[in-house]
Amino acid sequence: ASTLADRLVVVTAGPTFEDLDPVRYIGNRSSGRMGLAIAREAVRRGARVHLVLGPTSLEPPAGCETTRVRRAADLHAAVMPLAESADVVIMAAAVADYTPVAPSHQKIAKQAGPVTLTLARTVDILAERGQRRASAGHGPVLVGFAAETEHVISRASEKRRRKQVDLIVANDVSRADAGFDVETNIVTLVGPDATEALPLQTKSRVA
Ligand code: CTP
Repeated sequence: ASTLADRLVVVTAGPTFEDLDPVRYIGNRSSGRMGLAIAREAVRRGARVHLVLGPTSLEPPAGCETTRVRRAADLHAAVMPLAESADVVIMAAAVADYTPVAPSHQKIAKQAGPVTLTLARTVDILAERGQRRASAGHGPVLVGFAAETEHVISRASEKRRRKQVDLIVANDVSRADAGFDVETNIVTLVGPDATEALPLQTKSRVA
């Protein structure tokens, strides 16, 4: 536990909301519970914790500094400078992979027929940090999450290598007792040399 004393741990948590117009957005089912549990545990272990928190009604834990964000682009902008001085970056946020190309400033009125949305890729923050560390030769410990519905371990391992990070916390979100908006989780830690399946337990135990 003392290994975290005075270390800067950056944790991201929650969903992102990508606005279509002033009243509508594309979001996802993340509540932020897993990331908040990690932030709370890091504080308990003596780390300096900076939480970057997407739109959720859950309150950040006491004792950490918090930056609130909405879109993937805001999360990216908040994480980049923090990561430069961090010892550990844990990306528990469910970051949108796509965002509307041209969000409307006015509410979009319905039309008679179907509608087509054009979405652009967002920056993969974790992959960018992995890339940066690989080229610099030094940088924080990087932990990512993988929410999968099939081939959980093989997909998580592939993700770990591709994003050049230390650990992927894989969870099977097709299970009712793991994943979105529940207090428990069942995860497998996927590292470079081994994988470790943890039993079903509270998110605070997982943290
Ligand atoms: N992530 C990120 N930036 C993004 C999207 C995701 O940093 N724009 C991070 C998440 O916080 C998480 C990890 O990457 O830690 C896994 O995200 P996921 O979307 O599952 O990865 P992908 O590679 O996009 O997976 P897939 O190919 O299945 O979409």
